[in-house]
Amino acid sequence: MKKIRLELKDDAYNIYIGSGILAEAGRLLAAITGRQKAMIVSNKKVYTLHGKKLFQSLLKYFDVSVFLMPDGERYKTIDTVKKIYDAAARARLDRKSVIVALGGGVVGDTAGFAAATYMRGIKVMQVPTSLLAMADSSIGGKTGVDLKAGKNLAGAFHQPALVLMDIDTLQTLPKGEFINGMGEVIKHGIIMDAEFFNYIKTNAGKILEKDKNTLLSMVEKSALCKTKIVSQDEKEMSGLRAILNYGHTIGHAIEAETGYKGLKHGEAVAIGMAAAARIAGAMGLCSQDTVNGQIKVLNSFNLIKPLKKLKTGNIIKRLYNDKKVKDGKIIFILTKKIGHAKLNETVPIAIIKAELKRILSEAAQGGIL
Ligand SMILES: NC(=O)c1ccc[n+]([C@@H]2O[C@H](COP(=O)([O-])OP(=O)(O)OC[C@H]3O[C@@H](n4cnc5c(N)ncnc54)[C@H](O)[C@@H]3O)[C@@H](O)[C@H]2O)c1
Ligand SMILES: [Zn+2]
Repeated sequence: MKKIRLELKDDAYNIYIGSGILAEAGRLLAAITGRQKAMIVSNKKVYTLHGKKLFQSLLKYFDVSVFLMPDGERYKTIDTVKKIYDAAARARLDRKSVIVALGGGVVGDTAGFAAATYMRGIKVMQVPTSLLAMADSSIGGKTGVDLKAGKNLAGAFHQPALVLMDIDTLQTLPKGEFINGMGEVIKHGIIMDAEFFNYIKTNAGKILEKDKNTLLSMVEKSALCKTKIVSQDEKEMSGLRAILNYGHTIGHAIEAETGYKGLKHGEAVAIGMAAAARIAGAMGLCSQDTVNGQIKVLNSFNLIKPLKKLKTGNIIKRLYNDKKVKDGKIIFILTKKIGHAKLNETVPIAIIKAELKRILSEAAQGGIL
């Protein structure tokens, strides 16, 4: 079992990564909280696959209850949070109790937000079971729900007391969801760790076969990248944490323009990363090898899917409506070379338009090469 310690200004917690470690959950959590009440929040699909192991492990130390929410982003709502509060009250959770979130990012964000606010905040343990949740959402303390007006509009920073990643759970994750998570994993390599990027490139075959040792290394390296950023910029104040949005400026606009249908988040971000790479290339910030290297790896995981023809103008409009605009200029995250991403506020609009047009037309014709 590997351990990463995430140090923050006023807080610190451990992230455990291993194979078969759901069975350790009770012991590891009890070492922090002592014997308490714990409520597992999950959904039926994930709980049926992995809940029993977690439940039995917690039962040795905790008075355990379970709340299952429906599966899917459309249930990442205040209404679900309210149901979690009610279940917590029924189970008589108090200020020393813990919520244990078992699932993908949807469960983690929703249960995390319930924990952030129930009785003005109780502990949460994150047990991510999707690759996206392991690579991204379970680390860093962002919790929240969607509103009709947009995604993640209500939320709170609430760092977990403990994160436990059992890579065995990834074996049951559908392939499409696995690939989706690879978008964020590859992003971590591109923005801050060239060696990790090369590891992904070299081991693509083993990763896609879900080879255990490879997954273990990959999830650890990816978690280390996110941990480093979060520990230096916990609340997204210095701009450092913002580099995690690499590929997301255009990715979010594409997701919105396609009505969040037909394209997974990781696939939209992959097109966004390809566009950011091309923009950096066109500005002369990086070499063509750096541009093509990124696109090649994204393609080796089949992350860049054909896309129906989108209008460049519509995407540009969405970019300007996005919060990533400062003094009328779109803020991009660009890489000079693999492993080095920075905010850039000086991208000429003509380059954005030209590169977007090219990318969108290539994607509509079947792929970006
Ligand atoms: N808090 C953050 O910092 C942060 C960062 C990135 C994304 N997010 C949020 O994360 C969410 C997306 O997370 P996601 O991609 O994990 O989606 P998800 O939680 O919907 O999971 C995807 C699907 O996989 C299923 N699943 C999960 N683990 C499984 C397993 N081991 N075996 C079989 N099926 C499994 C889920 O039930 C679901 O059907 C979004 O709401 C996004 O806003 C949050
Ligand atoms: Zn993302």
